[in-house]
Amino acid sequence: MPDSDTSRHTDSDTSKPWGGRFQEATEKLVEKFSASEHFDRRLCFHDIKGSMAHAAMLARQGIIPREDADAIRQGLEEIRSEIESGAFKWRPELEDVHMNIERALSEKVGDAGKRLHTARSRNDQVATDTRLYVRDEIQRIDGLLHTLQESLLHQARSHIGLIIPGFTHLQHAQPVLWPHHWLAYFQMFRRDRERLSDCRGRVNICPLGSAALAGTGFPIDRQWVARELGFSDISRNSLDAVGDRDFIIEFLSDLSMIMLHLSRLSEELVLWASSEFGFVELPDGYCTGSSIMPQKKNPDVPELVRGKTGRVYGHLVSLLTLMKGLPLAYNRDLQEDKEALFDAVDTVELSVEVMAGLVARIKPRPERLKQVVNTGFLTATDLADYLVGKGLPFREAHEVVGRAVAQCLDQGVELTDLSPQELSALHPAIGQDVAAILTPEGSVEARNCPGGTGSKAVAAAIKEAEAWLGKRGRQVQSQ
Ligand code: ARG
Repeated sequence: MPDSDTSRHTDSDTSKPWGGRFQEATEKLVEKFSASEHFDRRLCFHDIKGSMAHAAMLARQGIIPREDADAIRQGLEEIRSEIESGAFKWRPELEDVHMNIERALSEKVGDAGKRLHTARSRNDQVATDTRLYVRDEIQRIDGLLHTLQESLLHQARSHIGLIIPGFTHLQHAQPVLWPHHWLAYFQMFRRDRERLSDCRGRVNICPLGSAALAGTGFPIDRQWVARELGFSDISRNSLDAVGDRDFIIEFLSDLSMIMLHLSRLSEELVLWASSEFGFVELPDGYCTGSSIMPQKKNPDVPELVRGKTGRVYGHLVSLLTLMKGLPLAYNRDLQEDKEALFDAVDTVELSVEVMAGLVARIKPRPERLKQVVNTGFLTATDLADYLVGKGLPFREAHEVVGRAVAQCLDQGVELTDLSPQELSALHPAIGQDVAAILTPEGSVEARNCPGGTGSKAVAAAIKEAEAWLGKRGRQVQSQ
């Protein structure tokens, strides 16, 4: 080996931790191509935490001297402060966050630092770091969803008796209460939080000790490390543990569902804020104007949330595709999991936060809503139900009301515009008492079954939602 090569392998600034068997330097282009330090440094604090637990266990088990474990802990604490203050020097040529920290440690504490990697591989290390990271983000997202649910509840309570048109096929269907509408979204985000909590159970498993792929011959104590890091159990198969990214895919699918719900809400707000609907006024602070059309107030926030949904779905599909052809156990392809994961987390966190702020400040336009709920035959079903009450089979009642609607459409009027004579001409069973049931209020109040839009049912639903939110709190229960 020429001298210059030998010096390259011992120069602490540029040599690779795995450089021993190599005769030739890594191509600069390959370094650039394979480096992940610029994005996986996001895992630095989890990496340090995992290394501290590992080193403490090695000392407890007599695998490294106690003084070395102490030196490692102290060195890692210094590195943590340097990273926090921005003083830490990241080196792309050291590939990733793990080797950056390990090299810095060895430079600080010498041989002790070089003992840290005993009974460990970057393969179980990165799997551990990522699980710790996802566990933290689950908790953060759960907290943000909690705030969003508070906004939805606030919105529900703020106009408790306001009636709006309910739609199916985006056609006027039946009147519903304003709070009923917001509580529908409350339920979606409740399921999302429950899903995250389920997911956490499978995330919170410790792979450390699987080493490169086959476990290790050192007398390690995996259970102790798992407990130290707050994991609820250890992984059961080393091949699976280092090559498994199911937990990320499951998490991304939960995030996709959150975005799906946010996107439906966004779509509705874009429609509702349009002059065609005119149901709501969005807060100025959440809208933008047009550089050419002075009259414009655009709902950019819900539009962007709707747009970013595709991005999160993309990350889910990207990871599903990344994994589908991988043989056991670790493959470098797995490094590609991180940017998708990080971007999905950033996108979801920002989207949930901004929607929580927006939802709390939406104002309904009661005049317009009043006009809309009194047109479009929203109470036609109520007339059919009324006839059923008078003894008609439902299908027959449906037919009678269908004819009544056709007649009204012909005359350009609403059912409520028909005189008592005209109504009883439609069917002799229709009496004076029909007037009350044809109003939006009558229609809503007729629907007090549990989960329905009647005011009593909605009051009970608000109570139930408040109780759920109070009991749940912001934390995902530890398991
Ligand atoms: N940066 C790598 C990753 O994210 C860490 C593990 C590398 N392991 C290896 N055998 N090259 O997957």
